[in-house]
Amino acid sequence: MPAHIVVLSGAGISAESGLSTFRDNGGLWEQHSVYDVATPEAFERNPELVLRFYNERRRQLQEARPNPAHRLLAELENRYRVTVVTQNVDNLHERGGSSSVLHLHGELTKARSSRYPELVYDIGYRDIRLGDCCERGAQLRPHIVWFGEEVPMLARAAELVRSADHLLIVGTSLQVYPAAGLVHEVGCEVPVTVVDPGEPASVSRAQVIRKPASEGLAEWIRSLP
Ligand code: APR
Repeated sequence: MPAHIVVLSGAGISAESGLSTFRDNGGLWEQHSVYDVATPEAFERNPELVLRFYNERRRQLQEARPNPAHRLLAELENRYRVTVVTQNVDNLHERGGSSSVLHLHGELTKARSSRYPELVYDIGYRDIRLGDCCERGAQLRPHIVWFGEEVPMLARAAELVRSADHLLIVGTSLQVYPAAGLVHEVGCEVPVTVVDPGEPASVSRAQVIRKPASEGLAEWIRSLP
């Protein structure tokens, strides 16, 4: 049975694909207030502004390509069982070849009914406009977990982290809960590696490779048995 590598990824792994992170200099939360574009209240107050924010990110995603970090994780599947638990809403892990990806915070390429959350639709890179409705006549919204909303995949993600033989944390500042709390689910004997050029929240007993994802992952993979 191959060892199980669980990857907890964040916006930093997509930085080399040209997608903005949230909290780096010039990040998305420097350009927009979370409270204007990423809360249910914001959508209630000004749905056009929220839809425009995600439409812009969806169009940017269409032009983006997976980078070597995404592809290195996919290639690992030849030797290990690899599960990616990502906070990212982009589809670059899948487009890079990863076959087991769990999105904690939703997916840009999906829309859902604002009234019947079980109605979820693949929309690719199309815009969501005011007046676009689900089959039961309710306005469509981005299939994104906004601040203050439940994280439906959290229990499944915690189960996966508990089953890890190695936990790799790449490209996340670990500042947003409950996602960041997943690092505490890993077994006390399980090795933990952080790949990040910056200063994410510290993870006890983690090996830190302070390099960008592509370079840091290549180095880490060379160290694997
Ligand atoms: N390679 C690896 N890591 C990088 C790179 C890179 N090339 N460039 C930046 N980073 C690191 C930064 O140092 C930082 O630690 O990526 C991390 C990005 O942190 P955030 O911008 O906070 O992104 P993330 O941790 O994914 O945010 C979590 O917050 O706003 C919410 O829902 C949103 O999913 C998001 C969540």
